[in-house]
Amino acid sequence: MRILSGIRPTGRFHLGNYLGAARNWVTLQDDYDCYYFIADYHALTTEPDGHKVEDKVFDVTSDLLAVGIDPSRSVLYQQSKVPEVAELSLLLSMVTPLSWVMRTPAFKEKAKLHPDNVNVGLLSYPILQGADIVIVKGEGVPVGKDQLAHLELIREVVRRFNRTYTPVFPEPRALLTEWPVINGTDGKQRMSKTVGNIVGVTDEPDVLRKQVLSMVTDTKRVYKSQPGHPRTCNVCAFYKFFFDDWEHYWDLCRKAQIGCHDKKKLLADRMIETFQPFREKRASLSPELVDRILDEGSERARVVARETLAEARRAVGLPPSPR
Ligand code: TRP
Repeated sequence: MRILSGIRPTGRFHLGNYLGAARNWVTLQDDYDCYYFIADYHALTTEPDGHKVEDKVFDVTSDLLAVGIDPSRSVLYQQSKVPEVAELSLLLSMVTPLSWVMRTPAFKEKAKLHPDNVNVGLLSYPILQGADIVIVKGEGVPVGKDQLAHLELIREVVRRFNRTYTPVFPEPRALLTEWPVINGTDGKQRMSKTVGNIVGVTDEPDVLRKQVLSMVTDTKRVYKSQPGHPRTCNVCAFYKFFFDDWEHYWDLCRKAQIGCHDKKKLLADRMIETFQPFREKRASLSPELVDRILDEGSERARVVARETLAEARRAVGLPPSPR
């Protein structure tokens, strides 16, 4: 099975990116033919300045490499370096009814969030996402729950293309990442850079420690001598990820044998230790090396992309691409 997934370049990873997505991408490399890319065209829907996007492409790529994406096993590339995807998106848009894209929840949300920048790119965002997938004939698409509506739409568009012309693309399937939503340090909202409730991954130890110590804990527990409620405590939720014996700590918490602050200190230490190899790997990457990896990966993706695009053009009835 061919796997494909993309990530928007929003900057360095936070725990949500890592636990909710990247960790899964790394594991999939063991069993599948994986294509992973940085969605810089998509970033332009909300940040029109490509120069600003470029620094973030470096950050995200470095973090992907740091946590274990292996460019000798996976094809790791930058979307805009495979411009064939933009042409395929155009072809897909011809078989996509306007009403389908207008009803996607992400479009409605973003239009509400940036009422001054509701561009057509935002509307056709899921069509480009569909082109990303089918240009390499991706079959399995590891994504979070928030992307399910897009995947459903993409499947319908693909079906319609295949029916209108001739079957060219496999229907891609979402591979849901098991971990649900990662809440931020406020314990209420999903971890996100815009909300400002993040905990980093490859950042320096003192940065991580500060972020963890700022976490909201058990709001029903005022004194250390009171028993805690690990089930509803955000800090305890993270213990499941970082401690094999998390139940032991939950127990101590219930018995008031460990305080909230101590739990945060322990968690910070453990996270810093767990991510030490990632920090080292990241520090070893120069901008030149990261560039070279992306260039080589994009060239590999392009070989496949050119072939798929040629097939799609033929199916539609267009002449071959000019040389
Ligand atoms: N829309 C995805 C997100 O916001 C990123 C993305 C772009 C993507 N193209 C993709 C994900 C193709 C999977 C497949 O997270």
